[in-house]
Amino acid sequence: MGLLDFMTQDIAIDLGTANTLIIHNDKVVVDQPSIVAIDRKSEKIIAVGKRAQQMHGKSHEGIKTIRPLKDGVIADFGASEQMIRELVRTIPNLRNKFFSPSLRMVICIPSGITQVEERAVKDSAEQIGAKEVYLIHEPMAAAIGIGIDVLEPKGNMIIDIGGGTTEIAVLALGGIVCDKSIKVAGDVFTSDIVYYMRTQHNLYVGERTAEKIKIHVGSATEELDNPPEDYPVQGRDLMTGKPKQITVSSGEIAKALNKSIIQVEDAVMQALAMTPPELAADIYNTGIYLAGGGSMLRGLDNRISKKTELPVYVAEDPLRAVVRGTGIALKNVESFSFLMK
Ligand SMILES: Nc1ncnc2c1ncn2[C@@H]1O[C@H](COP(=O)(O)OP(=O)(O)O)[C@@H](O)[C@H]1O
Ligand SMILES: [Mg+2]
Repeated sequence: MGLLDFMTQDIAIDLGTANTLIIHNDKVVVDQPSIVAIDRKSEKIIAVGKRAQQMHGKSHEGIKTIRPLKDGVIADFGASEQMIRELVRTIPNLRNKFFSPSLRMVICIPSGITQVEERAVKDSAEQIGAKEVYLIHEPMAAAIGIGIDVLEPKGNMIIDIGGGTTEIAVLALGGIVCDKSIKVAGDVFTSDIVYYMRTQHNLYVGERTAEKIKIHVGSATEELDNPPEDYPVQGRDLMTGKPKQITVSSGEIAKALNKSIIQVEDAVMQALAMTPPELAADIYNTGIYLAGGGSMLRGLDNRISKKTELPVYVAEDPLRAVVRGTGIALKNVESFSFLMK
């Protein structure tokens, strides 16, 4: 290890619409929701990550919470830069008191963002001290994180279902051959549940409650082999205005989500239809890989498998597949020519 290596610190960032994760020295050192809380008057950041999330939906007039990357685009550049800055600051041992190392970063970005947004992410990284910045597209990072050899002359289909977007991509020879991105993913599933509770049960629930429902009894199909137990939900009765509790089943949530799941299925079918035949043959043999938090929805893998008549595999620890891949890319910046400098 030369002196310069010692002075350089490498970090890999998965800048997700729902969660931001950072790997440093082969370890996930940051895993926080992509949320910032801002004081409306001074426009100063009060909290980021989990602390800001606790304020989400419970803030008063003086405080607003924002998700800077909602919907798969950077909705707020200033806030996203501040968020990265604050999160990088929490990494233990990144800077010691004697010197400030130069940072080398690989940042994973949603493939739907524009070149202007890409530039903005790089500028932000430089603002917080990065000397070398590489960007990697999300499906590529997900594939690497799943353990696929992306440089091979072989087609692979990855579906990354995050908070804001579902990204479907066919990769081969270190490139994205075709991709399809839709703004139907975890956030939409959550708002489907809010809508369902309101219209079917006259119950007004917040986003965080709806997300809990999704995680506890969410399902993409009414025919689960091992359905979870019914789940108690508290909210406000829209008729009486009083707080009340009801119980919901996974079958009900499957009904609530059905329209959105169909949109995901349709996008997958469109991506398959765009796939060049030689790569389609590869996918026929290997199947489809799912990553991202949304892929943990019960029965989603089976449903996509039935629709496509292909085997579907969910990545190990799907919430971390992308950051794992970004971390591996960081170690191979010299050999992975698809990284964007
Ligand atoms: N067990 C689960 N079942 C269904 N959805 C889940 C589960 N766990 C997390 N999610 C959803 O996954 C999404 C976040 O996934 P993530 O891959 O971190 O997104 P992003 O890359 O956009 O930040 C959220 O919408 C969250 O509600
Ligand atoms: Mg992601």
